[in-house]
Amino acid sequence: MTAERGKTKFQIDLRRHLRERGVERNLAHLICEIAEASKYIINSIRTGDLGVAGTSNLYGEEQLALDVLADRILTKRLLHCGVVANVLSEEVPEVTPVSLDCEGRYSVAFDPLDGSSLVDVNLAVGTIVSIYEGCDMMLPGSKQAAALYILYGPRTTLVYCCGDGVHEFGMNQLMEYYLLQEDIQMQQKANIYSPGGLRNLYTEGVEAYVQALEEGGVKLRYSGGFVPDINQVLMKGTGVFFYPHLKGKPDGKLRVAFELNPMAYLVEHAGGKASDGKTPILERAPESLNDRAPIFIGCTEDVEMAEEMIARLG
Ligand code: F6P
Ligand code: MN
Repeated sequence: MTAERGKTKFQIDLRRHLRERGVERNLAHLICEIAEASKYIINSIRTGDLGVAGTSNLYGEEQLALDVLADRILTKRLLHCGVVANVLSEEVPEVTPVSLDCEGRYSVAFDPLDGSSLVDVNLAVGTIVSIYEGCDMMLPGSKQAAALYILYGPRTTLVYCCGDGVHEFGMNQLMEYYLLQEDIQMQQKANIYSPGGLRNLYTEGVEAYVQALEEGGVKLRYSGGFVPDINQVLMKGTGVFFYPHLKGKPDGKLRVAFELNPMAYLVEHAGGKASDGKTPILERAPESLNDRAPIFIGCTEDVEMAEEMIARLG
């Protein structure tokens, strides 16, 4: 049933795809609600105020007006969709309880507008979503019921996985998501790499890793936005992204609940691998919902090479 990529002749929309892949009804409804919210987020990215909001998030980072707006749009949708137990946004310091009745409901952690500071230079940004069954989100990422992201680039795409394949949808002129590719699979070996963090602060192991990639003919391809960088690796089917542990910053930058778990879930279901350099991201037991961790994610051979060099050189 795969539609040929880029062609709109045999359109299978998101709702139909979720139904045909047997996704549980409430979960399918939730994903469709998030897809609906993304239409309003696109509008705010295209036309909204680019200034600061005058507030900061739980990491002490200055919030942009767009961060706050995207958060409001998504949270409101989740509060009213009838299938959500708890909501946790990267922009809000605590869990928002929606219903005490967890039965048949889902809890959602999200980064409403990752990379928002790239909007004023017109680079791609995204929304990242992690979904758990019931009320509990203090669980390892392997327990996610689903993960998805929406990429706002020259085109808008949505990539989801509910444990049965990773599927890409594109937004058409009617603002509906239609199937572009299903059951996406990654190759074993990367030919591009996206390195986050200041190279001056790389440890010996990470520096040796970068050198080995370059010597092996792996090319640098980095946009500075986590969603477009991961999307590039997944859609090309090859590549490795890392935001490593740094000297003086052993946990790197990216957040496990909002950014790493959902991306690790998607990449691993596409046959890739995601590690913090020692442990699979999806097996990390969370200490708090605000945990950060280093990440090496993408083609299996390249993630394993990073683990091996870090074990040897740090
Ligand atoms: O929120 C995270 C983020 O903006 C990602 O989109 C990106 O991968 C990373 O930060 C870039 O980090 P830095 O600002 O350290 O280059
Ligand atoms: Mn982010």
